[in-house]
Amino acid sequence: MRGQGAGAHDGGTGGSKRQMCRNIIIEQKDGTPMGRRATDSSSSPSSSPKSPTRRPRAKPKTRLLADRIDAISRIGGYQKPEMLPGALKLDSNENYTVPKQFQTDAIIAARRNADVREYPLGGTERLVAALSRSTKMPASMIAVGNGSDQILDMLLAHVAGGGRSGPAATAEGAKKGEKTVRILTSDPTFGFFEDRCRLYGMQLDGVPFSDDMALDASEFLERAKGADVLYLDSPNNPTGFQFAKSDLQGIISGFDGLVIIDEAYGEFGRYTVSGMTRGHPNLAVVRTLSKSFGLAGLRLGYMIADRRLTGAFTDVVQYPYPLSTISIEAGLEALRRHDQIREAAKVVKSERARIIEALRKYDAFDVFDSDANFVLFDAKGAYKRVHAALAEQGISVRRLGRVAGRQGCLRVTVGTREMNSRFLIAIRDLLG
Ligand SMILES: Cc1ncc(COP(=O)(O)O)c(C=O)c1O
Repeated sequence: MRGQGAGAHDGGTGGSKRQMCRNIIIEQKDGTPMGRRATDSSSSPSSSPKSPTRRPRAKPKTRLLADRIDAISRIGGYQKPEMLPGALKLDSNENYTVPKQFQTDAIIAARRNADVREYPLGGTERLVAALSRSTKMPASMIAVGNGSDQILDMLLAHVAGGGRSGPAATAEGAKKGEKTVRILTSDPTFGFFEDRCRLYGMQLDGVPFSDDMALDASEFLERAKGADVLYLDSPNNPTGFQFAKSDLQGIISGFDGLVIIDEAYGEFGRYTVSGMTRGHPNLAVVRTLSKSFGLAGLRLGYMIADRRLTGAFTDVVQYPYPLSTISIEAGLEALRRHDQIREAAKVVKSERARIIEALRKYDAFDVFDSDANFVLFDAKGAYKRVHAALAEQGISVRRLGRVAGRQGCLRVTVGTREMNSRFLIAIRDLLG
């Protein structure tokens, strides 16, 4: 769809911008620098009688730009789930157990308190203060971002290099001697994080989970010796597996580079390691209001870390106004009602147990334990059929296929009791 259709602002400079993009793509295909026809050799320096010596020609800037755009396009972006209008949406680990009224109240408060004619001066500071009250961590150890995605991205882009001139994101960078940043994670790990490492030309290695989706922490620490940065999402997406607390403590204490622990699903798990940020200045714990608070659309993420890291992040790395006034005000109201969230987390945990138990009745599935608000199951050779049959019934689950040593994995979000019952009845009708 890129470059197609006329947007609302198309009457201005939009047309010429699209033209430029088209030129670059044409150039990629026939190898001709932009603004010159493939057959036009009259202005070529090598064919000019005035050029006595043949020196290697520098690549024209337009060519370098086209190469870079081409390289970025080849990396490929994050695969969002397919849009199925009106479907029961159990594919993105969103949280419907938080009552709709909770969200409505947050938005009403935002409407009442926001003046969007102004930049949100002081807004993130107020949100940080509220997060400090709810996490019981000092405000100086908290930084916010436009979803935890953005925090992860910025940590990678600006901190993970550890003072190097920059990631060897290009062949040119590597030639200049820029050392590739090496990141160690588990395999599988959070797909978006993998994509960003690829974008920045970082080398991402994964220690595979065993068949029953466990991570060997001592192997992980051994492999960590060759890494600059460690990243673990715990509970892990897509398996739902939360690493043993002692394993995680050992990994955090046994490594002196940046350790990022992504606790996007922490509230559905058994523990948090955010308290360890006090004694470990290399630890960044990344969390979000998207999952436990059911506010994925507001894009409110935060990080807990040593104050030097959060200070540098907030004052230098982060945008001056990373969150909209509406998001800040709605987030403040949501944090005031934190107690309702604890109730919703209890519903997730009991419904998760119900889904796991029900799915385990089918020999066709291997169902994994979960500490998150989703359940991963291996439907083996039937996974495409199960996915399609559910879609036909208007139920969207995530089709993952290969995960660790498994070939046919599907991931279903834990929804409200009614949503989960609809999903389980559809499975029963299909297999029962
Ligand atoms: C492990 C993990 N980390 C981070 C995120 C991003 O969350 P946010 O909505 O805060 O950007 C997700 C979203 O699915 C996730 O699964």
